[in-house]
Amino acid sequence: MGFSALVCACVLAFCSAAPAKHLQRNEPENNRPIIGILTQEVDIEAMEIFGKTYIPSSYVKYIESGGARVVPISLILIGGSVNLETSDFAHTAGIYFRLALKAHDEGEYFPIWGTCLGFQLLTVLVAGENLLSKTTAENVTYPLNFSSEAQSSRMFANIPPDLRKALSQEPLTANFHHYGVTKEAFMGNEKLKDFFSVLSTNIAENGLEFVSTMEGRKHPFYGVQWHPEVNRFQWDPRYNFPHSSNAVRISSVLAEFFVNEGRRSSHHFSEAAEESRALIYNYNPVYVANISAYEQSYFF
Ligand SMILES: *[C@@H]1O[C@H](CO)[C@@H](O)[C@H](O)[C@H]1NC(C)=O
Ligand SMILES: *[C@@H]1O[C@H](CO)[C@@H](O)[C@H](O)[C@H]1NC(C)=O
Ligand SMILES: *[C@@H]1O[C@H](CO)[C@@H](O)[C@H](O)[C@H]1NC(C)=O
Repeated sequence: MGFSALVCACVLAFCSAAPAKHLQRNEPENNRPIIGILTQEVDIEAMEIFGKTYIPSSYVKYIESGGARVVPISLILIGGSVNLETSDFAHTAGIYFRLALKAHDEGEYFPIWGTCLGFQLLTVLVAGENLLSKTTAENVTYPLNFSSEAQSSRMFANIPPDLRKALSQEPLTANFHHYGVTKEAFMGNEKLKDFFSVLSTNIAENGLEFVSTMEGRKHPFYGVQWHPEVNRFQWDPRYNFPHSSNAVRISSVLAEFFVNEGRRSSHHFSEAAEESRALIYNYNPVYVANISAYEQSYFF
């Protein structure tokens, strides 16, 4: 497994917590958002000395830059195989996914964001089957090919018109994946099509059109097959990470968008002490640019 596989190791973020109440009597309830990020199993030998699971710092900085604090969510390690239906990552994500569905049914707001593998996992969880096929787009940047639904989407609604135009014309989205859901497979699956709107597509190296951005029609669930966090927080010169000023802007705008979704969640820790113990500030990132495509990473 090379560096590129590592870049595609991805994260689901769950907005799970708001403040412990006595901490901000005078503040609006949701202005201390906390976003949970699922850890991943260490899949690179040179990183094994640091821990069993990890979160690249780029994902943490991405969320922090949007104005939220991060809590790592540990994988429930039951030793599943490495696939999107039975791995520990899929299993743990599935638990949160079902909690979020239940929260929605009970009138609560529980947003979920999936990047890359997280995007793919959301499609598996919604469809109830694995619809992935080979759609390699490895170390390539694309402009988004917006669908007609993008115009009225929540995700792109507040993006300044000039930035939206840039996103459709300039290669601001970094892709590091071998699999994806083709537009044909997506539209051919009633569950997926009914649950998510397709906001953009792109053409893979083999010519197949894959879904690159989606959002829930009713649920605050979002998925990007590309990597918004690398635009600001990953610098490995061997990779095609977009760092233009528009690339930085789109990364910022989407981070703020998702954190704002998190502000609407009323979930919270029951005690301030419990919240403090859970925050990522209890951990120190490790320098890993010498052994991975990340600059730094948290280990657990
Ligand atoms: C953009 O999407 C449309 C609709 O799916 C498709 O017909 C077209 O080929 C795509 N163009 C590019 C450049 O990806
Ligand atoms: C990634 O793409 C860049 C720009 O096209 C290229 O210079 C670089 O060699 C590629 N890296 C890998 C590992 O393929
Ligand atoms: C990479 O850097 C880390 C942190 O400084 C160090 O612990 C590790 O030994 C280095 N690994 C290699 C293979 O150089």
